[in-house]
Order: sequence, then C-alpha cells, then structure tokens
Amino acid sequence: GFKERVFSGVQPTGNLHLGNYLGAIKRFAELQESYECIYCVVDMHAITQDMRVWGGPEELKRCIREVTSAYLAAGIDPAKNIVFNQSQVSGHAELAWVFNCVARLGWLNRMTQFKEKAGKDRENASVGLYAYPTLMAADILLYRATHVPVGEDQKQHIELTRDIAQKFNNDFAASITRLGLGDAALEGGYFPLTEPLIGGPAARVMSLRDGSKKMSKSDPSDLSRINLTDDADAVASKIRKAKTDPEPLPSEADGLKGRPEAENLVGIYAALSGESRESILATFGGGQFSTFKAALVDLAVTRLGPIGGEMKRLVADPGHIDAILRNGAERARVIADETMGQVKDILGF
Ligand code: ADP
Ligand code: NA
Repeated sequence: GFKERVFSGVQPTGNLHLGNYLGAIKRFAELQESYECIYCVVDMHAITQDMRVWGGPEELKRCIREVTSAYLAAGIDPAKNIVFNQSQVSGHAELAWVFNCVARLGWLNRMTQFKEKAGKDRENASVGLYAYPTLMAADILLYRATHVPVGEDQKQHIELTRDIAQKFNNDFAASITRLGLGDAALEGGYFPLTEPLIGGPAARVMSLRDGSKKMSKSDPSDLSRINLTDDADAVASKIRKAKTDPEPLPSEADGLKGRPEAENLVGIYAALSGESRESILATFGGGQFSTFKAALVDLAVTRLGPIGGEMKRLVADPGHIDAILRNGAERARVIADETMGQVKDILGF
C-alpha cells in the first residue's frame, strides 16, 4: 500500500521555546523510531511576516542553524531522517503555486492564524502571510506525507491540506487514472489525506504570564516563555514568576478545569516527566504552588539543560550544520522532483 511518511517543520524566527519543543520537536524525535521522517526548517514561511519580526538576512541564517541545532539536540538523527531547509528545494514554491490555484479564497478566509498574525492592519499584511497555508500544504504533500506532528494551533492548516489534496484528487481524477498515478490505498487518488498527530499533555503550551494565550516566539514578554537556550537560572526564575491562582493544587485532574495557569504547569510537568497528571496531582495536590514549582524547576532544568547545551555546542560549528542541511536538501530533492514531475504530467504541463 501507500508508504507512511512523516513530515513537519519549524519556522526559523528565533526564540525557540518550550511549546515548540513539547508540541513538536520532542515528538519529531520519538516518531523517527517508527516512521520515515522528513524534518524541515521552513525558512520561506519565516519571511511572510514583517522583516522587523524575522530580523533580516543575517538573523535568518542564524535562526536556520539554531532550529537545525534544536532538531539535532533533541535527538533527531540526520542520517536516518531527512533534515533540510525549505528554500533549498524549489518544489515547495512550485507546488504551492499549483495549490494556490486549487484552494478557494473562501477556504483561506477562514484561517484563524492569518487573522491573529495580520492583526488590525490587515491591508498591510503580506500576500505570503495570507497564502501561508497553501505553502504549508505544499510542504507536506510534496513528500506525500501521511502524518504531520504539530501543536494544536496548526490543526486548521492540516484540515486545509486535506481539503486541497481531496480537491486535487477529484479535479484531476481522469488524468491521474489515465497516467496510472492513482494509488489503491488512496482510493485512486494521488495525494494522501494527511493525518495530524496532535496530542499529549502539551499540545498547546500556554504563556507563563497569561493562561489564555499560547506560549509564542513573538510574545514581547520574555517571561512568558522558556526558551530552549535559557540557562538554569533563567528557567528557575521564569517558573517561579509564572502566574498562578491563589488556590492550592487540586488532588484530581478534574479540579484543573477553569484554572488555565495550574493546568498549564501540570501539563508541562507531565510532558517533561512522562508521568500522568493524576499521578502528579497525587504527589502535589493540596500543597502550595511553590513546592510544585520547585520540583518543576528541577525537572525542567534536568530535561532542557542538556538540549540547550548541545544547541550551543552545535551552533558554534556552522560548517557542520550547513553540511547536514545540504545533504538533507539533496535527499529531499529526489522525492520532491519525482512528485513535481508527476504533478506536471497530471496538470498537462
Ligand atoms: P511559533 O508558533 O512558536 O511561531 P512555529 O509556527 O514555527 O512556531 O511552530 C512550530 C511547531 O511548534 C508547530 O508544530 C506548532 O504547532 C508548535 N507550537 C508552537 N507553539 C506551541 C505551543 N505554545 N504549544 C505547543 N506547540 C506549539
Ligand atoms: Na505556529
């Protein structure tokens, strides 16, 4: 049948944080045991925002290497998986154009991330920010990936990716069949309907300062997030200052409902330790937040310290990282070129 394959990516926009790690990168490393995996640094997505946000060419290059170093430090093996940056494989942009002509304006108008990122001054947002989801669909479908590990915030974009695959398969069904490019496991379609892999206790890590906002690279408050490169003192002080409510921790997970800050910290503990929320609350329930926070500091420093240290060691040797990315791009191109060749045949180009 159709080959199962994982694809995912992270934008090189600086401030890689605990949410990126627990919602995405840590799970990328886990999936390499059971799938063929392709992990991309999505640099073409980074430039969809204002240059003041992504920082210009030198900062972009630094961040591409930093995200790559986070992949490697988290345990992703670049020999077993494909690790590369998006701009080096031209198929991403080519297929995104095709998908711009498959996706409907009404579909993109419903995307909530565009509304959040464009803010009030929508007339001044880039066309690229608006078309971001069609590029993301192209990233995934260029490799005909069947599974995409992402945080909760990307769910809507994966649904759009499925809609695009479905419409492409339907619109070009006759051509796909005539060329013998349909796959029985896909009911004769060419592109798979990709499944998101979202889940676990940290699918949506929230800001440490505001339990109603997700932890984000772009939050102006550095206290809102734990960066992967934070040292032990910074991690400790951010967790100690994390917003909480005045109640002690509940003894059961049900008691976390309506308490977003408490729920977030317990979720982070669960994701970092692999313990269930029930067992964590059996230990810390009824006690003060300060006791729980002290344990969380120890856990976070133990788990994140080696990753941050390894990232710093890796970025000190940019030549090594660049060689890994070049090798990954060569291997990605083999798959991408085959797909683009077939897509062009299907379209009649
Ligand atoms: P960001 O959203 O921080 O700008 P990206 O868009 O590059 O970062 O996202 C990289 C991955 O990290 C995506 O899979 C995204 O869903 C995940 N992610 C981002 N923020 C969080 C968060 N707060 N909690 C869980 N996962 C997150
Ligand atoms: Na995101």
